Amino acid sequence: MTLRDIHARYQRGEKLVMVTCYDYASALLLDAVDVDMLLVGDSLANTMLGFDTTLPVTMDQMIHHASAVRRGATRAFVVVDMPFMSYQISPEDALASAGRILKETGCEAVKIEGGEAMAPTVRKLVCAGVPVMGHIGLTPQSVHAFGGYRTQGRDEEAARRLKADAEALADAGAFAVVLELIAPNVAAEITSSTDIPTVGIGSGPSCSGQVQVLHDMLGLFPDRRYRHAKRYAEIGEAVREAVGRYADDVRSERFPEAS
Ligand code: KIV
Repeated sequence: MTLRDIHARYQRGEKLVMVTCYDYASALLLDAVDVDMLLVGDSLANTMLGFDTTLPVTMDQMIHHASAVRRGATRAFVVVDMPFMSYQISPEDALASAGRILKETGCEAVKIEGGEAMAPTVRKLVCAGVPVMGHIGLTPQSVHAFGGYRTQGRDEEAARRLKADAEALADAGAFAVVLELIAPNVAAEITSSTDIPTVGIGSGPSCSGQVQVLHDMLGLFPDRRYRHAKRYAEIGEAVREAVGRYADDVRSERFPEAS
């Protein structure tokens, strides 16, 4: 998949499919199905590293995981999240960070959080040949400023600001924008008024595509359930059951069998 393929699918009105991916084995599996884009999300701070927020994840950790995903995924377009404070200080700083990510991982694009205020940074990266995906609405790196994870765009002023954010990112050259936890009617308006694809999570069915966190879809944390995530499998339960059977087999000397 290239940026041209993604754009062509969007132009044909086909929904775009994106899912997070953080390791080589998952990348091999996901690349074998027709997923358009893999996102090495900074949500790996939560899913792979056990942190409460995405803030602690470092550039080296993002590069470590993204390189593994790239080695497993030879078909899908791979987008890497720029970690907290690797792009907020200045557009120049952002360019150095983005350059390092693309050079050291071989991935195709970066994603940064923020709307209008990030437009000069997006422009700087795009002018240097770095494809950028935007991310607005509930931007997890600003969780402390939001005071929690809650739906955005509920009042008129907030909705107006989100529309201006999406427009500013599109004008700056972002190739797509993630809409996270945005009221579905506002996400629908943004999707019809901007000329770049919107990729929704918890933002209703009108977006140009959807993104899900792999661990949520697959039930890897059996006890964590989110309203915006649909469970397509119960892998966590399957792992517990399989390893439990293995432990029983070892203790009762059913495994290994004598040859
Ligand atoms: O890091 C991530 O997983 C994300 C998605 C929620 C879009 O940014």
